[in-house]
Amino acid sequence: MDKLVIEGGVPLRGEVEVSGAKNAVLPILAAALLADGPCRIDGVPALKDLDTMLRILRELGMEADRTADGAIETEVVDPSRSRAPYELVRTMRASICVLGPLLGRRKRAEVSFPGGCVIGPRPIDLHIAGLEALGADLRVEGGYIVADGRRMSGREVYLGGAYGPTVTGTANVLMAAVLTPGTTVVEHAACEPEVTDLARFLVAMGARIEGIGGPHLEVTGVDRLVGTRHRVIPDRIEAGTFLTAAAITHGDVVVRGADPSHLTAPIATLQRMGVQVERLPDRALRVRALERLRPTDVVTLPYPGFPTDLQAQFMATLSIADGNSFVTEKIYPERFIHVAELTRMRARIRKEGPTAIVEGVDYLSGAPVMASDLRASAALVVAGLAAHGTTTVDRVYHIDRGYERIEEKLAALGARIRRVSDRDRGGGDPAE
Ligand code: EPZ
Repeated sequence: MDKLVIEGGVPLRGEVEVSGAKNAVLPILAAALLADGPCRIDGVPALKDLDTMLRILRELGMEADRTADGAIETEVVDPSRSRAPYELVRTMRASICVLGPLLGRRKRAEVSFPGGCVIGPRPIDLHIAGLEALGADLRVEGGYIVADGRRMSGREVYLGGAYGPTVTGTANVLMAAVLTPGTTVVEHAACEPEVTDLARFLVAMGARIEGIGGPHLEVTGVDRLVGTRHRVIPDRIEAGTFLTAAAITHGDVVVRGADPSHLTAPIATLQRMGVQVERLPDRALRVRALERLRPTDVVTLPYPGFPTDLQAQFMATLSIADGNSFVTEKIYPERFIHVAELTRMRARIRKEGPTAIVEGVDYLSGAPVMASDLRASAALVVAGLAAHGTTTVDRVYHIDRGYERIEEKLAALGARIRRVSDRDRGGGDPAE
């Protein structure tokens, strides 16, 4: 198992380029199941989660290949297949987003029911209710959702839940509705940029969708969708992670290729912390932290609120602010697994219900820490960049699911970070 070894304390300087958004590409690749003819998706990062999605899509009769220039080309060659197997789905919850397009195009689906998740309970009841509202017949059998979409027709679908609307659930309903006769009205749709990007891809294929970007969507079913070409949006969470890396190290970094309009809440939060964030031409952001960071409160919310996927990285950054901050998680109230590891690095964080009280300390102290999920791992790397001494982040495969070449990108900014694999250490004890 690979580890990242970080010697902290170097202010990051220079420019870094953001990759395409993983959470946009995943549903967009699934949506390519709906097309008659080839699709080409540009700007696809090289990430483990995308490899998993490609394996699932191949199981579902799609040819899907990466090109040398970072694109994926797809074409459905065998539409008779409709089973997404447990062995693949269990490794990535986002696989559930093949359910909508399978129902929409093939009118049937068998998708393994996603299991537990380290960031808390992640039910799919809203996906199921949304598809049932369209007239699909869904039942659970042998660990699979077995779905029949032959009686689907345009109806009204409400997607709000106790923690706000559902991102992947909105994607599923949209993908099921675009080839369903009649008009589907989706209320309380998720407004995340990744959903908007999916909707734009569907429209480029010939779908009719009104209200894109908002919580009220109207979809008029069409008979057929054609192949198209699409460039995915930049990864706002990767960009936000670099912003925190610059802030926590008191660096001066230009983040290129990001869309600042997707980062309004994180940028406003950094500004409250005394960090200078300047919008440069051509989708670039310059971030400079010249003084001791100020504490501030963070509440995660559905977009355009502060994203839950940056909560951990901001908590790490606030752990060396000059005072107390309150970090409240409204999307996944149990998403605090990073707290214990940050505490091992000398952070002072106390959890009370869905809120973490972060008492800023003068400095963090490098330590061996364990990655537990994608964003918690990113937070440990961010903390390690600023900590005194050496931080070793174990189980780096979590980071590799969602960050493309993170150590290379950070090293190019001056960070002293390297990947150590068992092979490099002569196949030594992974526990050492
Ligand atoms: C997407 O997950 C992202 N994943 C997550 O990113 C992100 O944290 C999340 O949206 C919230 O922004 C992908 O896009 C692949 P939700 P998703 O359905 O769609 C509850 C990362 O680190 N809910 O919007 O699964 C749910 O438990 C990942 O890249 C229900 O109650 O999230 C949560 O509290 C992690 N019933 C809230 O809604 C449902 O049927 C929002 O979840 C569905 C969700």
